[in-house]
Amino acid sequence: MSCLHATMLPAPTSRDPWKDLYSSDDFVRYYAGKTLLQRPEQVILDHLAGALHGADVLDLGVGGGRTTPHLARRCRRYVGVDYAAPMVEACRKRFAALSLERDVRFEVAEARELPFAQASFDVVVFSFNGLDVVDRIDRLRALAECRRVLRPGGLFVHSSHNLNWTERRRAIGWSGWRATWEAWRFWSMVRRLNADRWPFHGESLMELIDDERGARTCYVRPGAHLAQLQASGFTPVEAFDLEGRRAADAAALGRLSDPWIYYLCRG
Ligand SMILES: C[S@@+](CC[C@H](N)C(=O)[O-])C[C@H]1O[C@@H](n2cnc3c(N)ncnc32)[C@H](O)[C@@H]1O
Repeated sequence: MSCLHATMLPAPTSRDPWKDLYSSDDFVRYYAGKTLLQRPEQVILDHLAGALHGADVLDLGVGGGRTTPHLARRCRRYVGVDYAAPMVEACRKRFAALSLERDVRFEVAEARELPFAQASFDVVVFSFNGLDVVDRIDRLRALAECRRVLRPGGLFVHSSHNLNWTERRRAIGWSGWRATWEAWRFWSMVRRLNADRWPFHGESLMELIDDERGARTCYVRPGAHLAQLQASGFTPVEAFDLEGRRAADAAALGRLSDPWIYYLCRG
């Protein structure tokens, strides 16, 4: 994986099948129906309770607003943004009452080019692997944008898919008819679409084609993601598995095989 500094990267790319998918009715309905935090998010938010009080929070890739009430009720100012306009519309409807009660708003915005001044927020959240659908070139650009809009010492909470997991997942185990069938179908498709690059041993970052439309998702070795965060100016970095357990150090992080990992870093 290249750790080029973001300023050396080419101009943002435009074609993104994910943007069409996230703008579709099915995706909006699916994400707008979600309410619960994932276990590591809960652990991190509990840990940040003091820091959130009085904070300006950017919820990047807000989707249907799953994280909105958990953040917006605890902070001073909350801005939820997404590049899929129908997601933003759904959030405006869903949280119309909350927006009257508190300083809460929703905007269309692109993670590669955030429409906010430098040092505008105390906390930036990019939850549920939204970062991974930014392609591998623009990934560093998006990280640089998160860093830019954060105040010095601000916090960046996000998750990212773990390439270690793909090796474990290829050996599909029995987990009931439906789950086993879905896993088999998913991995058959991934295998077919990625035939020239399969298996992924030796790679530190893979863009997995996981949809017939060519939508790509980045899967990264935890150590390589840590290096990207550090190169983007985030340090220290804490990492959490899906049970919400903190990895003791970089070696423990490198051994995690969860499908995705949560990161809490300081800008
Ligand atoms: C996996 S969904 C997660 C939604 C929500 N955060 C949640 O946890 O339920 C990823 C979200 O990130 C948004 N997204 C992806 N790439 C983006 C980008 N480059 N700029 C802004 N939003 C983006 C998508 O439209 C989608 O709503």
